[in-house]
Amino acid sequence: MNKVHNNETIDVLLKRRSIRKFDSEWKIKKEDIELIKTVFKNSPTWINGQSVSMIIVTDKKIKDEISILCGGQKHINEASAFIVFIADYNKMIKTWETNNLEYKLKGNFESTLINVSMHDSGIALANISTALGSIGYGTVPVGGVRNNMEKLTKLLNLPKHSFPTIGLSVGKNLVESSTVQKPLRFPNNVDIFIDKYNEKQFNSNDLKKFDIDYEKVKGFKYSNSTHNYWQDKCTVADEVKFYKEVGLYKK
Ligand SMILES: Cc1cc2nc3c(=O)[nH]c(=O)nc-3n(C[C@H](O)[C@H](O)[C@H](O)COP(=O)(O)O)c2cc1C
Repeated sequence: MNKVHNNETIDVLLKRRSIRKFDSEWKIKKEDIELIKTVFKNSPTWINGQSVSMIIVTDKKIKDEISILCGGQKHINEASAFIVFIADYNKMIKTWETNNLEYKLKGNFESTLINVSMHDSGIALANISTALGSIGYGTVPVGGVRNNMEKLTKLLNLPKHSFPTIGLSVGKNLVESSTVQKPLRFPNNVDIFIDKYNEKQFNSNDLKKFDIDYEKVKGFKYSNSTHNYWQDKCTVADEVKFYKEVGLYKK
């Protein structure tokens, strides 16, 4: 790490890890929920379209149900709060309907808005995660909210033209982050380029070596994989399903 850049923000960013063991007794404070809201509002969104909403779930029963729908992820039950980010075109479309407007770029509506809300959700999630990290919370992003989208949509009462994009478990870590091994990242030559992508910067041996080290480090093991090689893990990752019964496609 560059020792010149050393401040609290950078410290929080570099200490962040997805730690999946929370103190289930820990209640999130009201002012911490207010912080989540404020950081959310301060996050950038495409054309300031604000097409993402969030649901902050603290109710134990609802968290338990979400946990099941996300494939039985225990940290969701134990989290003090679980935030579900929602691609939400409900407001936009309602306004258009009321004012006799419609999306002008027909055909691109779904892909534009799905892309946009994915970015906007990720940015808000990252900002919230950093803010919470700075006051001592641990967080885990949860793509598992897409596992059972139809059921989750029902559970959370989501209206037509909206769907869950990603979730964030928020809790008091039971273990100190410095004691948790971070899953290994690629060496810089594999995924950081200056000015233009340069395939010559790495070769298959670099990837092979990386994968051997990755397995040794035994960071996060994907539940569907029998071992922990990066390349295998990527082959068994859950498909991102195309849901016909939620969001823009809901009848
Ligand atoms: C889009 C996205 C979805 C994720 N979904 C899950 C998830 O459903 N469950 C989980 O335990 N971790 C999930 N993670 C956390 C990753 O597994 C984790 O970030 C990765 O292994 C790197 O570890 P680190 O966060 O400790 O650096 C997700 C992360 C991202 C960015």
